[in-house]
Formats: sequence, C-alpha cells, structure tokens
Amino acid sequence: MPAMVSELQNGHRSADNRTEDSYAVKRMQIEQQRRSLPIASAEKRLVEEVRKNDTLIVVGETGSGKTTQLPQYLMKAGFSDGGKVIGVTQPRRVAAVTVAKRVAEECGVELGKKVGYSIRFDDTTSNLTRIKYMTDGLLLREALLDPYLSRYSVIIVDEAHERTVQTDVLLGLLKHVKLLRSKSSNGVPNANNLDPKNNFLLGNKNTAEDGSLIQRCNSAKLSPLKIIIMSASLDARVFSEYFGGAKAVHIQGRQYPVDIYYTLQPETDYLDAALITIFQIHFKEYAGDILVFLTGQEEIESVERFIREKLQQLPEESRKLLPVPIYASLPYEKQMQVFKPAPNGVRKVILATNIAETSVTIPGIKYVIDPGLVKAKTYNAKTGVESLVIVQTSKAQALQRRGRAGRDGPGKCYRLYPEIEFLKLPDSTVPEIKRCNLANVILQLKALGVDDIIGFDFIDKPSRMAIVKSLEQLYLLGAITDEYKLSDPVGIQMARLPLDPMYSKALILANEFNCLEEMLITVAMLSVESIFYAPRDKLQESRASAKSFSDPEGDHVTLINVFRGAIDYLRKSEPESSEQKTEKKLRKWCKDNFIDSRSLKHARDIHSQIQRHVQQMGFSISSCGEDMIPFRKCLAASFFLNAAEKQPDGTYRALSSSQVNVQIHPSSVLFRKRPDCIIFNELVRTNSNYIRTITRIDPMWLIEVAPQYFALQS
Ligand code: CDP
Ligand code: MG
Repeated sequence: MPAMVSELQNGHRSADNRTEDSYAVKRMQIEQQRRSLPIASAEKRLVEEVRKNDTLIVVGETGSGKTTQLPQYLMKAGFSDGGKVIGVTQPRRVAAVTVAKRVAEECGVELGKKVGYSIRFDDTTSNLTRIKYMTDGLLLREALLDPYLSRYSVIIVDEAHERTVQTDVLLGLLKHVKLLRSKSSNGVPNANNLDPKNNFLLGNKNTAEDGSLIQRCNSAKLSPLKIIIMSASLDARVFSEYFGGAKAVHIQGRQYPVDIYYTLQPETDYLDAALITIFQIHFKEYAGDILVFLTGQEEIESVERFIREKLQQLPEESRKLLPVPIYASLPYEKQMQVFKPAPNGVRKVILATNIAETSVTIPGIKYVIDPGLVKAKTYNAKTGVESLVIVQTSKAQALQRRGRAGRDGPGKCYRLYPEIEFLKLPDSTVPEIKRCNLANVILQLKALGVDDIIGFDFIDKPSRMAIVKSLEQLYLLGAITDEYKLSDPVGIQMARLPLDPMYSKALILANEFNCLEEMLITVAMLSVESIFYAPRDKLQESRASAKSFSDPEGDHVTLINVFRGAIDYLRKSEPESSEQKTEKKLRKWCKDNFIDSRSLKHARDIHSQIQRHVQQMGFSISSCGEDMIPFRKCLAASFFLNAAEKQPDGTYRALSSSQVNVQIHPSSVLFRKRPDCIIFNELVRTNSNYIRTITRIDPMWLIEVAPQYFALQS
C-alpha cells in the first residue's frame, strides 16, 4: 500500500497527508449535508428574490437551513463584496455563538475571520468578517454609533417569530434605517425623527472620530439596505404588512410524522411526570435521543440530578442514558455538548429551556417531552412590576416543540397534559413588548433620537399605560427630563452602558458615593446566574462555605466577598502567572469553596468589560474601604423603586406604588434575619412573590436619596 510505504519513509509527510485526507472527508460530508438541506434547492430563487426586493420575508420550518445557509448563499452571490457585512441577528446569545461556529466550520474558516459572532461582552469579529452573527440587542447598540448601519449590505433578522422586545425594536429601527439609506443613496439628507444629528450618543463632543462618522455617512452614497426577516412560524402576514406588503418566500420543509400522546389527567407534578416518561422511553422505545422542555436552570439541574441518582440504582446495562443540559446561561463549552453525538449505544436526554424550541437545532432527537410550560416575563402596567412567571405555552409553541421529534425520521411527542387542555391554549404567544417593562427600550430609542415613543411605529404597540409607567420610572431615575428628553449627563451615560437602567444608575451613583469598585463587582456578579452551588452529597459543607462569605447586611456585600475572596487567593498564591494557570487555580478555589467556577469566570469577564466602559466615561474607580454604609446607601439610591418594608406578619410589602406583598427567598442571607427595611434586585413569582438579592437599608436613607419619590408617597 503506497500510503504505508510513504509512512515508513517519511513520517511527517504522511501525517500531513492523513490530516489532509480527514479534512477532505469532513469537507465532503459537510458539503453533502449542506446540499441535502431543504433550503438548498431554493438557493437560486432566494438570491434572485433578495436582488429584486429590498425587504423579503423568508419562512421555513426549523432546521430547513435558513440561519446557516442563506448568509452563505448571499456571500457567494457577492452581497458582501467591497468590504460589506451580512449581519444576522438572533434573539439568543447561544444561537449567535453556536451558529457562527457551525458556519465558520462549513466555510472552512477560522471563527472570527470571515465568519464571526458578536454578543454583549464577547466579540469575535474582525475587519475580515463578512458574515456576522449577533444578538438583536447588539445591533441596536451599534446603531447608536452608526445610525445608517453603513457597514451592512444585508441585515437578516432571524427568529423573528419569537417577537422578543429587542427584535420588535430592531424591526422598527430597520424600517427607519432603510428610509435613511435610500434617501442617502439619492444624496438627500434625511428629515426623519431618527436624524443622526439628533443622536445623543453620537454627540460625543470629545471625539472627532464620531463626528466624522456622520460626515462620512452623509456624503457617502450608501446602497439601499437589504432587510430579510426570517421566521419559523408560517404566518408571515404580520411582518409583510409591517413592511408595506413585503414579499414572503416559503421554504418547503421536510418533516416526518410525529405521534402525539397526551396524559389522561392533568399532572400535579410535571417534573415527576417528565422523569417517569424519560425512563419509560429509555426502557421501552427504540434508539433515539430525548428532548425535554423545562422552564429554567434550577429545574434542569434538579431533573439532571434525579436522572443521575436513579441511574445509580439501575443495573449496569440499563444505565446507558446521558443527561445533557442546555440553557442560556450555561457556558458555551457546556452548551456545545448537546451537539455531540452520545457514545455508541447510549441515549442522550437533552434537558432544555425553550431555547431548543427553534433557536438551536439538535440532531438525533426522536422523542420530545413537553410539559407545556415556559418561563415568561409579565408586566403589570398599573403597578410597574415586571416578573418572571411560569405560564402555559401557546399552540404555536407546542407545535414547534413537537416538530423537534420529526427532523431525522418519524418521532413521538409526549405532552404532559390532557388533550382538552391543548385546545384551550392561546394560538400564539403575546409579543414580549406587550408584557415587559419598557424603561430599557425607551432609553434605547431616546438615545437613537426617537423622542415620541408613543408615536413610534412599533409592529405591535405596547399599551399607553405601560409606556407612561416606564417613562415615569426613567424620570425617577433621573434619566429623562421634564420634557421627556434624555438628561445630560445621567440619561446619556445610562444609555451608553449595556446594562439595565437601574444597574447603570447604580454605577453612575457609585461614582458619586465613592464606591464604584464595590458597585462594579456587584453589577458583574448580578449579571450571572447562581454563584453558589450545593452538591446534594455535600450540603453541609457547601452551606458552611456559603456562610463564610455571608455578610450580615445582605446579599450584595456577600457577592462582593466571594469576588474578592477569589482575587485575594490569586494574589496570595502566586501573583504573576499565566492566564491558564490562573484559570486552573481559580477553578480549584471555586471547588474548595463551593462556588460555580463558570459563573465566577463569567462575572470576572463582565467586570473587566464594564470597568472599561465606565473608565471611558471618565469615572475613576474608588473604593469605600471597610465602611460599607456608603455602598448600601448607594444601593438604596439606585434601587429605591425596589424597596420593601416588613409587615407585622413578617412578610414584606413593596414601598413603590405597586405595594405588592413579597417574601424573602430562602437563598438570601437575610432570610432568617428579616430586617425592617430592604431593597431587592429580583422578583420571581412562583406560588408566591419571592424577592432575591437583598440588602438591609435604613428607611431614612430613602427619604434622603429619593425625596421626590418618597415625599410623594407620604
Ligand atoms: O435556521 P433553520 O432552523 O432553518 O436551520 P439551521 O439552523 O440553518 O440548521 C440547518 C442544519 O444545520 C440542521 O440540520 C442542523 O442540524 C445543522 N446545524 C448543526 O449541525 N450545528 C449547528 N450549530 C447549527 C445547525
Ligand atoms: Mg434558524
């Protein structure tokens, strides 16, 4: 065999040949897979339609190849020539990352070169990037700096059917940018309310560079912007109407039949029912992976634990079941696990949030278990309270979930509720913009130069009351003036920070209270989920460890203690070591202290990025030292809208106009102490209203730091 001979003669060359061979095989496999996708036969037609139409709607079932293929077709057809970028927005960070990786692989390029992704706190793109996957929120932020989105020749708004707030705002913005661009290509400066001269953030007086951007945009003749809206829901009408009767193209899907099973009775404990179903499938059904839809990280973790425990009790040969979690805050490396095939003879059971409904396509699924629930935001416009609640899915969601079982062959879908319940479900989900706090959206729009929020051309208008309530909140935070304009400098600074308005306000105030160091850590730690972790077999130790960090005044300082504990450890052990070594040491420290190392790493990354932001804004980072009172006062001044007071019965009542009754979540260090007056960061509604991340404050501070609000109350 010639290959063997050459291997003996020249080890090096043959090793190279082998890698080349396997590379070629892989490329061939990828090419074949690409060609077999339903969208492949529509390539020519799609490219033509994009040429002909400035706005196009592309509808196709999940998995037909829209997200991964269409940008590649357009690149091949020359849409990214001349240094232009094809931008693809995703509502979810995970989707932006996984898809970019996949497409880079399909193109045979290194991620970050021709194909890259950019999400908040993580940008892998470069000047070479021609296809850029990003979150819709990120593109909105880019529009602040470049109102014409001049680098883009095409913008694909993907997963538009999800109708997240950011998608809806982006659609509105794109409508305006399109107008700007078509006017600019005629050399006519725009006269729109998105006039870049109105753009507050661009009004960065210190940098000539930003000023020149406007110049460049105005003088350059930009080609019209191509807008493509992609959706997995068959109803393209709403998008078509919004874009003045834009054309819709349907991609023929390929879906195998999926049998549906319902329970006879409503389930009292859907997690238990899901577990029973998982093992029933595992024991009785043919090979094929299982996908279970759960509502969040905690639920997923507990189901995973139960599966592992149960497997331990089974005989060796029955243990071939591998639980794999996927949810938004799971670190990327872990998320990638769901795409890896299980070892031979092992059945994967993927425990997912509704992230797996349409955003990511996982091959190999034959069985879907759908308890029919989803965690969703709700907003009470009267009280101004936004909370996360578990609600029933819509019919459209149930159909999408079922579809996940029929991608590679016929499948089965187990709905953990009776058939009669299905018939009662609403047809489709209410767009998020109609059930969330709008403060963030308003801040963004104002920064983009849109002053008339009520008059803004939303695809679905939020209620007037919701807008007014959110405006009121921004006013109370000092972000807007009496004339509803973005205030200078607070409002402008708040819009500049990629954070929730209240967190941005906390950083700005911390600058005044001389506790910016502490607040930066707090905001970073609040931006990640679950810092502490408590393995079942080591509950005592993990509790003791958590206690060692806890601060008597509350959870915020406790989080700071954890963050600083890690830094101190690194400093003491070996101050100057390589990044790799640092990571390893950090992981060890986390393990010893029952801290989730991935969450902490994420928090450290976020910390350094926000730190850069505030430094660019000219803030100097000072610490309040040992005395935490200024820090707690600063918390009161920033989160006064989330202040609560103890009632005689030991529960709490929110002091804001909402006056809702709340309870301290058992995870808080103040759970037992129950101080008289507190501020909190999060309200979670399960069977009762739980508040999380809490700090004790002095009620007098509230009058001192927010007299306009608390004077009104009395
Ligand atoms: O966007 P759409 O749901 O129409 O499909 P897609 O995300 O472009 O996926 C097309 C194909 O690529 C599917 O068969 C996926 O299994 C595959 N894919 C993959 O293998 N890995 C990814 N990270 C994303 C997609
Ligand atoms: Mg897709």
